[in-house]
Amino acid sequence: MKPKILVLGSGGRAHAIAWKLALTLGHEHVYVAPGNGGIPNAYALDISDFEAIRSFCIKHRIGMIFVGPEQPLSEGIVDFFKDTSIQVLGPDKQAARLESSKIFAKKFMKKYGVRTADFQAFDRTDKARDFIREKQGNLVVKFDGLAGGKGVYVCSSADEALEALNELEKKYGKKVRFLIEDKIPGDEVSLIGFTDGRVIKTLLPSQDHKQLLDGDRGPNTGGMGAYCPVKISNEIMQDIRTNIVEPTLKGIKEEGFHYKGVIYFGIMVKDGKAYLLEYNVRFGDPEAQVLLPSLQTDLYAVAEACLNGNLSEIRWAFHPGYFVDLVLVSEGYPGKYETGKEIKGLERLDGQILIFHAGTTKKNGKILTRGGRVLNLVAHDYELNDALKKVYNAAKKIYFEGMFYRKDIGQRKNKELIKKGNIKKT
Ligand code: GLY
Repeated sequence: MKPKILVLGSGGRAHAIAWKLALTLGHEHVYVAPGNGGIPNAYALDISDFEAIRSFCIKHRIGMIFVGPEQPLSEGIVDFFKDTSIQVLGPDKQAARLESSKIFAKKFMKKYGVRTADFQAFDRTDKARDFIREKQGNLVVKFDGLAGGKGVYVCSSADEALEALNELEKKYGKKVRFLIEDKIPGDEVSLIGFTDGRVIKTLLPSQDHKQLLDGDRGPNTGGMGAYCPVKISNEIMQDIRTNIVEPTLKGIKEEGFHYKGVIYFGIMVKDGKAYLLEYNVRFGDPEAQVLLPSLQTDLYAVAEACLNGNLSEIRWAFHPGYFVDLVLVSEGYPGKYETGKEIKGLERLDGQILIFHAGTTKKNGKILTRGGRVLNLVAHDYELNDALKKVYNAAKKIYFEGMFYRKDIGQRKNKELIKKGNIKKT
């Protein structure tokens, strides 16, 4: 009999994880909570209520949980299920601090020689003002805790950094834990993989597009699109392994972390050197929407291997070519937006496009918007430009009132990543 798994999450990432697992397990074995309007087998569970999750798993004879977002991990879902027969993929609460505390993560990086920008930690805003004036701008201010992508201020001047402090004060008061680090301008790349605590195996390098508008302008969002693989020269890939991935693994082992799950390296490359900006302890959204379709290997086998400590035995295979994800959002996002708009045209997309729902709901046989990020359209082709054409043609067939998307996904010039260049430009 096939095993059953529960995926936690409601966005495009959860849909992509469930889709990939269902390829080998079948939809009837992949439960999702709370899901969205496009995910089969979705259940309206509160994913911060671990007792309710346990009862649900017992009732449906589910043996494994795949956690999409960071909150349940930082709240200790792995610790909660530790002595039960239900296995949870992910780090325990202590290891999840690599994402839930930016100061903890930076101290870990420094301790284990992971290359990262210099930083200083603060526990009051007033103590940081002189520091900012001395440094003269080009700084990044980061709130210590989880802030749903809204706790990072990338500043080009001392005034901007001081304004970031004002915003932190408004939200959290004067007594707030945060850090200030040197800004590293360069090319950003997401490297996401799995660990069983013994090895780290990475998937294809990918890139997301965080800003709302073309040319990386406008406010930060959860992610407006992504593509993979991002072409990286062999030298830079080796630099990432030597100065980021390997020391991280050493740290995980020496700290004695219980970490069996997804690990995400948010990296900046400048002058041929890779710097770690941040860890996340889960898949990126929207990176998952391109990485999981690009992965040929069975995701359930990978998850099992992480939990059993034999990840090194997995045979990794990736589909050739490029994968592009375009996110369709509601007008007004990432600020205020309306919901309840009917989404039309989904039936007009052919089998060449994967649709991962995010902020959608099903009502009376119709699919309606229910969030800021509404739909992910994913296309594949052997050339990046052909995949882009497919995805943008598909977007023209979809309609909902106020629909908006970026027109330049996958078109960044990644000069730093290909600098030492033994690879073909795309
Ligand atoms: N795409 C960035 C993130 O998931 O945090």
